[in-house]
Amino acid sequence: MISSARDVHIIGVGSCTPDRVLTNKDLEQIVDTSDEWITTRTGIKERRIADPETPASALATEAARRAVRDAGVKPEELDQIIVGTVTGDRPFPSTACLVQDRLGAAGAYGFDISAACSGFLYALSLGRTQIAAGAADTVLVIGVETLSKIVDWTDRNTCVLFGDAAGAVVLRSTGQPGGILSTKLHSDGSLTNLLEMPGGGSLHPASHETVDRKLHYIRMSGNDVFKYAVRAMESVACEALEAAGHRPEELDLLFPHQANYRIIDATARRLGLPMEKVFVNLDRYGNTSSASIPLALDEAKRLGRLKPGDLVEMVTFGGGFTWAASVVRW
Ligand code: ACO
Repeated sequence: MISSARDVHIIGVGSCTPDRVLTNKDLEQIVDTSDEWITTRTGIKERRIADPETPASALATEAARRAVRDAGVKPEELDQIIVGTVTGDRPFPSTACLVQDRLGAAGAYGFDISAACSGFLYALSLGRTQIAAGAADTVLVIGVETLSKIVDWTDRNTCVLFGDAAGAVVLRSTGQPGGILSTKLHSDGSLTNLLEMPGGGSLHPASHETVDRKLHYIRMSGNDVFKYAVRAMESVACEALEAAGHRPEELDLLFPHQANYRIIDATARRLGLPMEKVFVNLDRYGNTSSASIPLALDEAKRLGRLKPGDLVEMVTFGGGFTWAASVVRW
């Protein structure tokens, strides 16, 4: 366990979603599916889709502006910008560098982290350790994804699941007790094939052939992901709680990755948590991957469901396979 030399608090939250709403009814016109199937199998009713002119950096920058404003800090005060994403504007430069420029965060350096849906919690963990170790004072952590741009819109197995969004938090030491109490991260590279985008890297560089073979789209073995997800979410949630010195029943609110209502429900049952203590907004946003948790945090805060002093836990899983959890005294 990392023992923090300094406390690290989340002092500001912000998010941004595209305006365009794509409902299950709309999807019925695109692929052979139904509102009934999507709702009962996933809990998703609609999702937000970025237009062709909106890359990840645009959503990320707006979420960052809102988080910085919420935190009451100036962009110039930021030391680091860490972005969790697998759908950045380009393979390089990093989306963090684009955000740094557009935000006017002249004193910050930035970089991206690739951990699929666990990207935000991986970035949060790193930001925490940087501040705790004294390597930075103020860190901006962003989760952003435009998965609609790497989804095969003819594949009903995947295209109904995902949406686009960005969420951001500002981290800083406040000298007060509480804040981020624990973070636990895991990965298992033997499960890579369960969830991947095969093309566009050095293994299958982009070519006419990779396009013809549809290698630039998400491929997923949904059933297998489902089973691993439930097991991984429960075990890492318990691990992070234990590291923080708490039990599941002490939680005020759980923020699970918003991938599938049935996965969330199964995780809550295994932890013995009633659904009133579980924040769910996937019905309106679908699976926004690394944006899912900060988007939920921001919405819960604005709705008054997240209050100072609350004990909250965030828990996620994603391609890699990766999984992670963090316990916070808000
Ligand atoms: N509409 C209608 N029918 C569909 C659709 C659809 N959109 N998609 C699949 N089906 C059909 C299948 O073809 C199959 O038909 P068949 O029995 O005739 O072959 C049937 O529905 C059942 O398919 P399953 O895959 O068994 O359905 P399941 O109950 O497992 O639900 C789902 C599928 C929703 C994908 C589920 O497995 C799931 O949520 N898995 C986890 C996925 C996930 O969370 N991924 C994100 C990971 S995070 C990241 O890193 C991006």
